[in-house]
Amino acid sequence: METDMREIAESFIKNNDFTKKEFRMLLECADDPESAEMLRQEAVRIRKKYYGDKVYTRGLIEFTNYCRNDCYYCGIRRGNLYARRYRLTKEEILECCAQGYELGFRTFVLQGGEDRWFTDERMSDIIRTIRTCYPDCAITLSLGERSYESYQKLKEAGADRYLLRHETADEEHYRKLHPSEMSLAVRKLCLYDLKLLGYQVGAGFMVGSPGQTADCLAEDLLFLKELQPHMVGIGPFIPHHGTSFAQEKAGSVELTLFLLSVIRILLPKVLLPATTALGTMDPQGREKGLHAGANVVMPNLSPLKIRKKYDLYDNKISTGEEAAECRAQLARRVENAGYHLSAERGDAV
Ligand code: 5AD
Repeated sequence: METDMREIAESFIKNNDFTKKEFRMLLECADDPESAEMLRQEAVRIRKKYYGDKVYTRGLIEFTNYCRNDCYYCGIRRGNLYARRYRLTKEEILECCAQGYELGFRTFVLQGGEDRWFTDERMSDIIRTIRTCYPDCAITLSLGERSYESYQKLKEAGADRYLLRHETADEEHYRKLHPSEMSLAVRKLCLYDLKLLGYQVGAGFMVGSPGQTADCLAEDLLFLKELQPHMVGIGPFIPHHGTSFAQEKAGSVELTLFLLSVIRILLPKVLLPATTALGTMDPQGREKGLHAGANVVMPNLSPLKIRKKYDLYDNKISTGEEAAECRAQLARRVENAGYHLSAERGDAV
């Protein structure tokens, strides 16, 4: 049995063009320490080949937690009446950028719920100002689903990148995680629109979300191969007390690390963050992510007073090394892991 697993891992390393059935078999390697370790080493080798010891950083600005969607897993879903809502002003967002720039960040990620208050006009105005003040920085948006025209306007205003996790590429599983007014087809269309418009695009999914099977994960890997995103964000699912998934089990750190390695081998040059959810589940999560093939960290630049309110899942870490003001500490931890915080914008190679 173990030899079978090793053969599958070896064959994936030789040729990553796997079918769904082969991906399903590959996922079984997660339970075989020897083949999992082989994949991990290959992932690190590839990561070093393209990115050396560099770790890119992005300053995450969580600028609104209003959301028109009601995704069952998410703490800031519309239906969570206990969520205390906030919206940063343009000036507050610019203040985060100023602080971030000072700390050495050269990518700003503006992330929020799907908040209609931030119309194309308001968003474009904010983006244009950041673009003018920080011509050497990348502007990444993470605002959920919008129209082609909207994405186009935001691109013209100066945005470079867009993060939109697909959450799951399996139709049936998508239905279990989202209310009926949302659809996987629209989500995928948005991702293709963003690519067409020339954004550097990030997709991704939660590991261990309720109802997720090996079949779903195989579908996720196939979809990533087809989409060819510049970035892939994955992190363990973590239950939130204000959602219908409050009693569900959290996703596994081990499986997340395994999948990071698989994705690194699948898309060798991809930008792969060691996510906040991974750091929340395990105090060493960030380092473990780097040792599994990740090459990006995204510390929080949001104003301290609102940080607790961007409450996607329980116990989300918001102070400590994942906080941008602790960049020096983060740099030290990254060094201790054998890597080096890069001062560059950090585009995919
Ligand atoms: N656990 C882990 N990740 C979550 N996200 C939302 N809710 C949760 C949760 N309960 C992730 C989603 C979303 C990203 C911003 O946060 O994948 O795309």
